[in-house]
Amino acid sequence: MITSKLPNVGTTIFTTMSQLAADFGAINLSQGFPDFNGPQGLLDAAARHIAAGHNQYSPMTGLPTLRHQVAAKLVRAYGAAVNPDTEITITPGATEAIFCAIQAVVRSGDEVIVFDPCYDSYAPSVELAGGKCVHVKLDPGNFTIDWQRFSDALTSRTRMVVLNSPHNPSGALITRDDLDQLAVLIGDHDIYVISDEVYEHLIYDGVQHASVLAHAQLYARSFVVSSFGKTYHVTGWKTGYVVAPPALTTEWRKVHQYVNFCGVTPLQWALADFMAEHPEHLDALPAFYQAKRDLFCDLLKGSRFTFTPSPGTYFQLVDYEHIRPDLDDLQMAEWMIREHGVAAIPVSALYQSPEPGQRLLRLCFAKKEETLRQAAEKLCLI
Ligand SMILES: Cc1ncc(COP(=O)(O)O)c(C=O)c1O
Repeated sequence: MITSKLPNVGTTIFTTMSQLAADFGAINLSQGFPDFNGPQGLLDAAARHIAAGHNQYSPMTGLPTLRHQVAAKLVRAYGAAVNPDTEITITPGATEAIFCAIQAVVRSGDEVIVFDPCYDSYAPSVELAGGKCVHVKLDPGNFTIDWQRFSDALTSRTRMVVLNSPHNPSGALITRDDLDQLAVLIGDHDIYVISDEVYEHLIYDGVQHASVLAHAQLYARSFVVSSFGKTYHVTGWKTGYVVAPPALTTEWRKVHQYVNFCGVTPLQWALADFMAEHPEHLDALPAFYQAKRDLFCDLLKGSRFTFTPSPGTYFQLVDYEHIRPDLDDLQMAEWMIREHGVAAIPVSALYQSPEPGQRLLRLCFAKKEETLRQAAEKLCLI
């Protein structure tokens, strides 16, 4: 019998809920992906590049033309001047970028601080590197970081910190002040940062994203990760990028070249064309998703769920305390699929040890208007 290197890992909650939703024909607001297509120009560009024969390995670092587009975007968005050759690498998804950053830095016995609830790939990646994940809970009310708790969790073995803003599952945003606090607490210690910014363009109500790329002191020790999948409504393309100072990029690439070597070539060409031709896509994204959030929240006002509109991401948390306080969130999510035809993610699944008494579900609003209306109609009947 094989002895598992990941004995605590089973099937992810996203797979479980999506499967259950399919079994019961429920509207799937659980897994985070749009039910609409990416921009036509992007899809056409991919088809064009496949037909043109751009189907062999790309350079290990990613196509230069796409790296240059990303560099130009970072100047526009954050005033960050990074070198596209030595600081930007195209990746087959943000998840691979995160995995490689952890493998590049974390050694046996090192500790990595993550903030719970968090995206489920962080902890297994740390475990595979021989490290130990230290889970610091976010404030259960507004999902902000308690810097005293973080400071208490720091030890001489702390090697890495994983930030995520806008935050999955809550949508909460890290502020510039948070970044300053982190920089002070890390000081000169040999500690690195992964800043998971895959929802960087999905921020609402006119708020600006506080990117680590705009914080010189933190950037000096950071891997900043993003995902074209989220930004261009093509999550199945699994294409992203990582930005890190040259010395960190060199180490990161040593891992990447033996994990995936490169991203998918024709998709990189297509993204480069589309970014060059349609820079306005990024400017329109906040309003595009904010309209969906506002519609969904307006419709949910007729329900017995309580919630605060999400400040970022395409997720909305809802509290079911007034509906079925007798059920834990996994039972509630299963009951909703079976009895009411809507699938959600139980937030406790994203904690190492769930917050006692918390009754939260995560709903994805990256959906067509008709899907949101149908789902809300069902949710209002619960
Ligand atoms: C916080 C967070 N990080 C990373 C990812 C992974 O992005 P990708 O699909 O590009 O690997 C996701 C996807 O859901 C996410 O929510």
